[in-house]
Amino acid sequence: MAKQIQAIRGMKDILPQQTPLWQFLEDRVRSVLSRYGYAEIRMPIVEMTELFKRSIGEVTDIVEKEMYTFADRNGDSLTLRPEGTAGCVRAGLENGLIFNQTQRLWYQGPMFRHERPQKGRYRQFHQIGVETFGLTGPDIDLELILITARIWRELGLKDLELQLNTLGTSEERRHYRDHLVDYLRQRFDELDEDSRRRLESNPLRILDSKNPQLAAVIKDAPSLMEHLEEQSLRHFDRLRQGLDEAGVDYTINPRLVRGLDYYSRTVFEWVTDSLGAQGTVCAGGRYDGLVEQLGGRPTPAVGFAMGLERLVAMLESRDLQEQLATPDVYLVMMGDRASREGVLLAERLRNGLPWLRLIGHCGGGTFKNQLKKADRSRADFALILGEDEVARKEIGLKPLRGKGEQQQVALAQLEARLEEVIIRG
Ligand code: HAM
Repeated sequence: MAKQIQAIRGMKDILPQQTPLWQFLEDRVRSVLSRYGYAEIRMPIVEMTELFKRSIGEVTDIVEKEMYTFADRNGDSLTLRPEGTAGCVRAGLENGLIFNQTQRLWYQGPMFRHERPQKGRYRQFHQIGVETFGLTGPDIDLELILITARIWRELGLKDLELQLNTLGTSEERRHYRDHLVDYLRQRFDELDEDSRRRLESNPLRILDSKNPQLAAVIKDAPSLMEHLEEQSLRHFDRLRQGLDEAGVDYTINPRLVRGLDYYSRTVFEWVTDSLGAQGTVCAGGRYDGLVEQLGGRPTPAVGFAMGLERLVAMLESRDLQEQLATPDVYLVMMGDRASREGVLLAERLRNGLPWLRLIGHCGGGTFKNQLKKADRSRADFALILGEDEVARKEIGLKPLRGKGEQQQVALAQLEARLEEVIIRG
């Protein structure tokens, strides 16, 4: 036999038993976003490499080490998107969606980063991202966080903590950066190799280091908050006030700096302890400078993206997967006439009960065999249609999970009866 070819490391298949959970997640998120008036945009997966260099930043882990970059046949340098914000701004500018307008957009799809794969960290992963343009105030920052909080509520996810910080404007950050570099120079001996390299290029990222050796240096570092001017402080205070009024708990984390360079003012992450090391399930913030950086007029913008693999992992820990994957009803059809009538009956039920998950038996076979299949499908009920039932205009309703005896139900009353036993139990 020929040697089988394996999937690429860090890139996973999502198998049929897992897709119900993915669809549940995607449907809920989509429904919340549409209720808030967000519209979907679909961008290409491949962009010019320059786009990511200019937006995410040359001296970030993503651009330095993690991008899937290649030359296409024309010699252009292309990159599989490592995230969606840059492409969304590019698409917005190119299609005239941003100038002088407000936009509330969302997108969904695979992203690619050549990171070291581990639980919750993949080389191909999926995000649902949201980006808004043209809105300056803390009210839209608040709206985005309220959306995420509502999504967790509707998904039934509880163990999530909101961490919040402000990075100030790029000017405020420049001032702060000078102070920080002075301070870090004084403690140069305590820095690791990565931080020494970053000292000139991207010193703020040193504050985000996970290396325990740096904990003391980071703890004593000057705080950005003390270098913020009135307007940035007011923006942050009003956001906090809004969250307090809406009853959304948060923790201020002054070390939250994010791994992409485009942020200004508000940044936030939703984190959980329940997933091990890769606990950030959603992250975002304001990026008021990016549209201009990519060739547009200055336009305020703010957004976030959630990691679907991590959210699915949180949902998996509940027995939701089984519930979502099981049909309500398996329709057993004995004989030619019942098979023909059965197909039509199944369509009638699907029309009348749009929520019903019904599998119609295909391929004939004995009664025993069909019932075995019904049982294996894990449906709660079998509907049994034989020649006699067709003649009498009724059908057998047989509980498969030990909830009472089989009953005969008049076909005319079947929708009502199913609603009763399935919805009201
Ligand atoms: P990010 O923090 O790089 O931000 O990614 C957002 C989320 O994607 C993370 O919190 C995580 O859940 C998930 N994620 C990131 N990398 C991986 C990976 N290798 N494997 C699995 N999941 C991962 C952004 O991408 C920004 N574009 C978010 C944003 C939108 N900011 C403003 N607008």
